[in-house]
Amino acid sequence: MDISNKVILITGGNGGIGWALAKSLCTKGAKKIYVTYLNDGDINIDSIIGATVIEPLKLDVTKKEQVKNIALKCADADIVINNAGVEYATSFTDANTLEAAELEMKVNYHGTHYVSYYFLPYLRQKPKALLINILSIGGFVLVNKLGTYCASKAATHFLTKGLRQDCKNSNVTVMGVYPGYVDTDMTTNLNVEKVTPDSIAESIILGIENDSEIVFPDIMSNNLKDTVFWDNAIFETLTS
Ligand SMILES: NC(=O)c1ccc[n+]([C@@H]2O[C@H](COP(=O)([O-])OP(=O)(O)OC[C@H]3O[C@@H](n4cnc5c(N)ncnc54)[C@H](OP(=O)(O)O)[C@@H]3O)[C@@H](O)[C@H]2O)c1
Repeated sequence: MDISNKVILITGGNGGIGWALAKSLCTKGAKKIYVTYLNDGDINIDSIIGATVIEPLKLDVTKKEQVKNIALKCADADIVINNAGVEYATSFTDANTLEAAELEMKVNYHGTHYVSYYFLPYLRQKPKALLINILSIGGFVLVNKLGTYCASKAATHFLTKGLRQDCKNSNVTVMGVYPGYVDTDMTTNLNVEKVTPDSIAESIILGIENDSEIVFPDIMSNNLKDTVFWDNAIFETLTS
């Protein structure tokens, strides 16, 4: 898809990957970007970059009514990016595991489902539209000490596959993006090698321009991609 003149919505757009994406989309000539944020305190968004208008909007993706209203307000969006996410670094038996797992599932899975559900009727009215879900390698491999997060991303991986099936042969492409470790607030406490949010944004832009349904945006995810293709091949066989 050609990004120039498109209207785009990014949830959690003031975070590391979200804001890197917004900046990259501006350089490609996007007409308008709705950047949603959760906390008033850390909103720091320029109102215009180049020729692109940036409109910040407050949105908690776990609140169905808010999502429904935002979808109505932003019905002109051609591309919707489900990027909002949380990760609490918990395994399944840690003291705070039950609360962490619930919150991760609420934001990462249910939030993505709500946004997809309420925006799809509008996306279906466009000549060509794109729904992008920012997933994780944790959606298809279990990462040590991030168990509850991985479970929420695995649920969202299945959601993405199901949405793709529901949109098959339509004007809407459903893209899943599977990053490895990225250097953002989410990974501050993880002492591992990380890539920059800007490099992830560049890979996603390339995916948009090439109409890709699946994007492995870094070396770590690329090394694991056969797992996803194998899983997809079985899914195709079972559903054909
Ligand atoms: N960093 C990594 O290594 C990595 C790897 C794979 C996948 N990912 C995924 O990439 C996406 C972006 O993460 P990031 O690394 O850029 O982290 P980040 O900088 O912490 O950004 C996360 C964003 O999500 C927003 N958010 C959290 N809860 C929300 C809610 N209930 N409603 C709406 N927005 C909410 C945050 O808003 P506030 O700032 O206003 O709280 C923030 O803007 C996430 O889906 C994450 O799971 C990240």
